[in-house]
Amino acid sequence: MKTHKQLGQMKKTGKKIAMVTAYDYPSAKQAETSGVDMILVGDSLGMVVLGYESTIPVTVDDMIHHGKAVKRGAPNTYLVVDMPFMSYHVSMEQTLLHAKRMFQETSAHALKVEGAGEVLNVIQKLTFAGIPVVAHLGLTPQSVHVLGGYKVQGKELEAAQQLIDDAKATERSGAIALVLECVPSSLAALIAEVVNIPVIGIGAGPDCDGQVLVYHDLVTYGVDRLPKFAKAYTNLNSVANDALSAFVQEVKSSAFPSDEHGFSIQEETIQHLYG
Ligand code: KIV
Ligand code: NA
Repeated sequence: MKTHKQLGQMKKTGKKIAMVTAYDYPSAKQAETSGVDMILVGDSLGMVVLGYESTIPVTVDDMIHHGKAVKRGAPNTYLVVDMPFMSYHVSMEQTLLHAKRMFQETSAHALKVEGAGEVLNVIQKLTFAGIPVVAHLGLTPQSVHVLGGYKVQGKELEAAQQLIDDAKATERSGAIALVLECVPSSLAALIAEVVNIPVIGIGAGPDCDGQVLVYHDLVTYGVDRLPKFAKAYTNLNSVANDALSAFVQEVKSSAFPSDEHGFSIQEETIQHLYG
């Protein structure tokens, strides 16, 4: 398993970091087997696993429940867990209590928070308390209603400058890595250059220090529309739908189960029972 120091070293030596989300035991196991450097229990679980419209309904308990399953599936991979909507905004006391529970109960290696500004204090305090923090800038889905939709961030000069300043500020506050979501590729490249922590991009072009994708997008599982920045490496929807339809047909036609799927008993015993 890599430490965050080693992940930082990968940036320095130009080795790309591969990160994927996971939300349960099987996806975590697959991620670990495939050799990803980092796993994220993203609050995207609200959408891709729980069927909500956004990440906003996701709770601390949801994150812990899924985080623990992921840890069991991938005990030897660097694990980051998202702090969900409003779990780090009400007061520093409540933030620390949520973070303590999430960090202890999931045995994560780091927690991730969205935004800069006031959130810089959160990054500082958690780091001070011994919890490594991954920052998340650009499109921050927990603020979708403030941002006015899921769209590319940092296109105007002022917004781009703000993003650069925020990225530097998260590093100064102690963040060990930065996720950049939906940012023009050349701006993301510049940000990756001006900060020393690894920048993991999603919809942020090829010049980030690493890439993260949502598991369900990557394998096309459950989702029916992919965001522009995602790449489908396979289609589990069609594999699973074909399998399920075949099962239904075989039950209806009595083709399943066949003898090989059943258990036997001695003929005399059954004759005896028939009387
Ligand atoms: O929740 C999530 O999946 C994320 C990634 C998109 C970075 O935050
Ligand atoms: Na997230």
